[in-house]
Amino acid sequence: MSIKIQEIQDQALKKFDSAKTSKELYDFKVEFLGKSGAFTEIMKSMKDLSSDERPLFGKKVNEAKVVLEDAYIRKERDLKTKEINEKLASEWLDLTLPGPVQDKSTQHPISLVLNETVNILSRLGYSVRLGPLIEKDFYNFEALNIPKDHPAREMQDTFYVGENHVLRTHTSPIQIHTMEREKPPIRIIGPGAVFRVDSDVSHAPMFHQIEALYVDRKVSMADLKGTIAFMNRELFGSDTKTRFRPSFFPFTEPSAEFDCSCPFCSMKGCRMCGHSGWIELGGSGLVHPHVLKLSGIDPMEWQGLAFGFGIERMSVIKFGVDDIRLFCENDRRFLDQFPS
Ligand code: PHE
Repeated sequence: MSIKIQEIQDQALKKFDSAKTSKELYDFKVEFLGKSGAFTEIMKSMKDLSSDERPLFGKKVNEAKVVLEDAYIRKERDLKTKEINEKLASEWLDLTLPGPVQDKSTQHPISLVLNETVNILSRLGYSVRLGPLIEKDFYNFEALNIPKDHPAREMQDTFYVGENHVLRTHTSPIQIHTMEREKPPIRIIGPGAVFRVDSDVSHAPMFHQIEALYVDRKVSMADLKGTIAFMNRELFGSDTKTRFRPSFFPFTEPSAEFDCSCPFCSMKGCRMCGHSGWIELGGSGLVHPHVLKLSGIDPMEWQGLAFGFGIERMSVIKFGVDDIRLFCENDRRFLDQFPS
């Protein structure tokens, strides 16, 4: 019996020695020392031995196992060291080489201004609402106090989609949808594309606007002025001044257009501000009581302020772009100049 043990041990040592990889070595270990390996097999023959022979047999088997474990550990260490060295030699890397050029994307200037404005107004408690691009005549005009044949309809040069639908000419219909669906106090920003029959260097048939609406008890022109002045300072710099000029919109009363001081020339007068020192930004006012009533809000209890402006125009001022058609041309030389 002990001859048999010695034979297996010699065989195993030979195989361990011949192993070329740590994986191969491990397989040999399983072959001899594993659960169904040679030693487990030989242990089964113990039952045929006399009770005197058994302890000696067991001792011999254990000694052989210890020898093999020991041989395994040494061989494994050698093979692993060899394998690591080979790996290090083959995966040599020159860290000084430049990496592959990444084709990086940038954000569109319209998105940049839109996101920034949303961030600024959200700090005052405003949250975003969206609306459809094709509107019923009612939402684009009637509910905003612009009845049929009202001259203000012509101001807007509308694209009609059939008899009763239009491509929205402004984002103000988002005000109406929101007032119909939500109860005051309401504080929302409605951004999106709008459409007008118009096309030249400073007008495109599709452009983007942001609408803001705040309905609460005791909303006044002071709130309107404070909100717009804050937004302008945040967008164009802390020394930006804001100016309001009396104006007319059918859906606000009183109404005002708002301007910011020209950031290009510090109000000395330049081409961007038409040498006036001021740049026109958008329209604003207190929501007309009739508009509140049409949307189911009692004007005796609630007042609202609203303002709206073009995002392209804001981008032109912020980034000094001089032709708004560039915004839709997808020219990488233009787009790559904006941050990602
Ligand atoms: N909707 C108006 C426009 O497109 C702007 C505006 C919005 C005016 C809100 C007053 C209040 O010109």
